Order: sequence, then structure tokens, then C-alpha cells
Amino acid sequence: MLIAKNISKKFSGVIALANISMELHPGKVNAIIGENGAGKSTLMKIFSGVHTQYEGEIFFNNKLVKFKSTKEAEDAGISIIHQELNLVPHLSIAENIFLGRELTNSLGMVKAKLMNEKTTELLSKLNLNIDPATKIAALKVGQQQLVEIAKALYTNAEVIIMDEPTSAISDKEVDNLFAIINQLKSEGKIIVYISHKFKELFAIADRYVVLRDGSTIDSGNINEITQDQLIHKMTGRNIRENKRSSSVKDQPVLFSAKNITLNHSLFKSKKVLNNISFELHNGEILGVYGLMGAGRTELMECIFGLHPKNGSGEISIGTEVQKIKCPADAMAAGIALVPEDRKLHGLIINQSIRFNISISVLETLQKWGLLLSAGKENSLSENYINKLSIKTASDNHLAKTLSGGNQQKIVLAKWLATHPQVLLLDEPTRGIDINAKAEIYELMKTLAAEGMGIIIVSSELPEILTVADNILVMTEGELTANIPIEEATEAIILKHAIHKN
Ligand SMILES: Nc1ncnc2c1ncn2[C@@H]1O[C@H](COP(=O)(O)OP(=O)(O)OP(=O)(O)O)[C@@H](O)[C@H]1O
Ligand SMILES: [Mg+2]
Repeated sequence: MLIAKNISKKFSGVIALANISMELHPGKVNAIIGENGAGKSTLMKIFSGVHTQYEGEIFFNNKLVKFKSTKEAEDAGISIIHQELNLVPHLSIAENIFLGRELTNSLGMVKAKLMNEKTTELLSKLNLNIDPATKIAALKVGQQQLVEIAKALYTNAEVIIMDEPTSAISDKEVDNLFAIINQLKSEGKIIVYISHKFKELFAIADRYVVLRDGSTIDSGNINEITQDQLIHKMTGRNIRENKRSSSVKDQPVLFSAKNITLNHSLFKSKKVLNNISFELHNGEILGVYGLMGAGRTELMECIFGLHPKNGSGEISIGTEVQKIKCPADAMAAGIALVPEDRKLHGLIINQSIRFNISISVLETLQKWGLLLSAGKENSLSENYINKLSIKTASDNHLAKTLSGGNQQKIVLAKWLATHPQVLLLDEPTRGIDINAKAEIYELMKTLAAEGMGIIIVSSELPEILTVADNILVMTEGELTANIPIEEATEAIILKHAIHKN
């Protein structure tokens, strides 16, 4: 059993945890549930030796423990899959998995071949068939997440903390992960599971603990509580979302993509995207659904000018064909992309929240020789902090001090502030709690009502069904369906998303 007793934690005056107590049971999946900024990751970082300064006590198998490092926690049998992926980009998959615990022979030489073999074995459990010598930087976020999971599994820990392990992977990979979790459960391990996806929580969790504003609100068996009750405990209120009923087809065409094709960068005969064409109308929200590897992110990247060499096809705004060879061309044409990998493309984590929100507007203004006054910059960031209810004491704080979900909101705010004609959103609500999601959907609908065209890539069917007017479905680089919302159901979308072979 892993027990937290009266744990409190402050960050330079901000109270992240206020006297939290909980019990985490062996042979069970213990779900920790709460809104963005509730304190989930902070508590997990205390359990796993990342944060070493805190008040209160932790008991592990009846012994008081106080870890001075992650190494100490790992040696004691506690491993964590971090919410923000922690892999070293220029090292290979195998090197990352064995980082700090390399397999060596009696002379101290690294056994690279054995490590590669073991890595292949681990990856195949997760159905990831990639060469273990591949560098992390070459992987998509979802694949990186699977590597992070494999890494935690390798340690053979007694406690495995999963902080939003499925935020970047799709249903098929989730099924693989759940099979592994069930195996770990039967071995009597303590699984701690954090997710904002209720479907997953009800599918895999045995017990739940609800946190709100750094305090424990409730805990119990998951089969004794409903989703609405849980949401109410998390947020203190009820939330409802409605499907759109739209008539955007009557609107003029705002944007069109014709024969978008992307050749594989190594195997020229292989097509990552094959002849994709579609239209987006004024005020339309177009959902793009597909399983991992379907090519959704690559499609957004092509539109945004990120594949000038290997990509081809035609992009038009209205009736005018655009020459898009780089992101600056795309932005000049009125297209903005909120990327899926926020750490890499979205956020400057060592800068203030205010700077991050205003940076893209600043760049636009500076091009015209204008400067944004400090006052305007302030009101811009305050406006978005309110609109998206970003949880922070001040917009002066560095972006890295925000919880994962609140960081994602900053990335969104930054691009919304540029008011593009066409907004591409790649998994915009990953890691965002149910309440903030509803606010983001409302914001998207308001922007669409003002005439903006929005394309949203999402792995969450309920999300697509809530916001989209039309749904594109992709499989292995092909467009397999274009379904109006009136005809869309989860079953129909999935049917078109399943691999052909
Ligand atoms: N390194 C830090 N410095 C300052 N404040 C921090 C730091 N880490 C977390 N916080 C603050 O502590 C609070 C709890 O954050 P935490 O990351 O634990 O939330 P969370 O429940 O994991 O949220 P999410 O669902 O968004 O991941 C937030 O107000 C956050 O801004
Ligand atoms: Mg978190």
C-alpha cells in the first residue's frame, strides 16, 4: 500500500497541495481525478522523488519514506510515466529506455545489441514495430508516449504511476495498454492512473480519488459512482454539451485543398498522404478523425507549408490558389496551426505566460513596423487567461510553472490571438479537463460564427461529434469518408477509420 498523509506543497507562495491524504491499493488501478491545476501531477512528482521539498508523510508498505531523488524512488520500486514526455530527443529509443541503467558486460562495455533486442520485445508488447535504434526526435508524439510507457514498464516497479499516459495515442493503442495494465494488476502492482477521459477511467479504474484545488474531495470504488457525480465532485457543478446543427454547406467556400500528396522522406514509392481533397466553408468546423498513423498531423503540416520538398497539391483561399512553401507563407495567407507537440513547437517554457500569448501577435505587428504597447500586451494576455480560465496567480509567471493542461491553453490562446481566417487545431484539448474543454468548444463555435473556418484533428470521437459540422475520416494516408454531422455516429466513423488490412 502507498499512503499519503497530510501532504502539502507550495511553489513560491502558490499552494499546489493542501493537506492531502489518500491510500493507493495494490492489485488495483487507482484513478486520480481532477481539473487542470488540481494538483495531480504535483502529488505524483512527490511520490516519485521529483519534488523533494514538501510537508507531510508518505508510507510505502508500512515504512515511512522520503525520497531525495527519482533514482531513490525507482530503487524503492516506484516508477512514473510523466505527463510531459521526458525523453532525450537525440538518443535512440533503446538508449532512452536504458538511460542510467545501461546493460554492460563484465568489462563495463555497453551491450547495445542486447538492449536493442530487449527494446524490440518491450515495444512489441505495445504493438509498436519500430527499429529500436530510431532517434526519439524522429517519432511522432503518440509514438514517444508509447516509448515512455515501455520505459516505465521495463523497471519492473511495484508502483507504476501513469500521468495521462494516453493523451497522445488512439483507441487501438489504448487497448494494448489496458491489456498490460490488467496483467500488472494481476501481479499485485499498484497502478496509479491519471486521465481526463472518462471512458477510460470507467473502463480501467477500480478506485477513484477526486482532487480539487489541492485537496482530496472524495474517494471510493469506481463502480459505485456515476460520471455526472464525478464531474460534480471535480468542478462543483454540472456540465452539458450539445451537438451542433449546422447549415454551413450553404456558405461560400473559404478554403480548399486539392490532391494533397506527401511522399515518404526515405521510401519515395511510399505515400504518407495520397491525393486528399476537401473544402472548408465560411464558419465551418471540420473534424478530422483517424487512428494513429492515419496521416492527420501530416495533412495539417502540408497545409501549413511544413513539407515543401515531399508534399504536393493545391491550397486555395476562396478561389485564389496560394503558394505555400513555408509556415510564413501559410500565415500570410491567413492560416494558423496549433501543433500537437506543444513542447517542441508551441510554447517557450522559460518565458512568461504574457510573453507566450502575445508573441505571435508581436511578430505580425513588427512586420508592419508597429510595436505593441505593454498595456495592450497585458490586456491581451489577461483577456485570454479569463476566456480560457487559465489557472495562474499572475501572467508574469513562467509558462513552465503551469500544470500540463494550462500550458496547452496558452498555446491555444497564442494562436487565437492572431485571428486567422483558417485555424488548424491538432489535438487542441489533449490533457484539458472537461470544464475547460467545454469552454474551448464554445470559443471555437463563437469564432466560427464570426466566419472563421476551423479544422480540428482529434482522437476523441465525443469531441469531434460535439464540435464538428462535417467529419473527414482518414486511414493510412487516404481520405476514407466525409460525413455530415447529421449522419455521424461513433460506429459509422470508426467503420471508416479501421485499417484496410
Ligand atoms: N514548478 C512549479 N512552479 C510553480 N507552480 C507550479 C509548479 N508545478 C505546478 N505548479 C502549480 O501547482 C498547481 C497544481 O499543478 P499540477 O501540475 O499538479 O496540476 P494537475 O492536476 O496535474 O493539472 P493538469 O490536469 O493540467 O495536468 C497549479 O496551480 C500549478 O500552476
Ligand atoms: Mg498534470
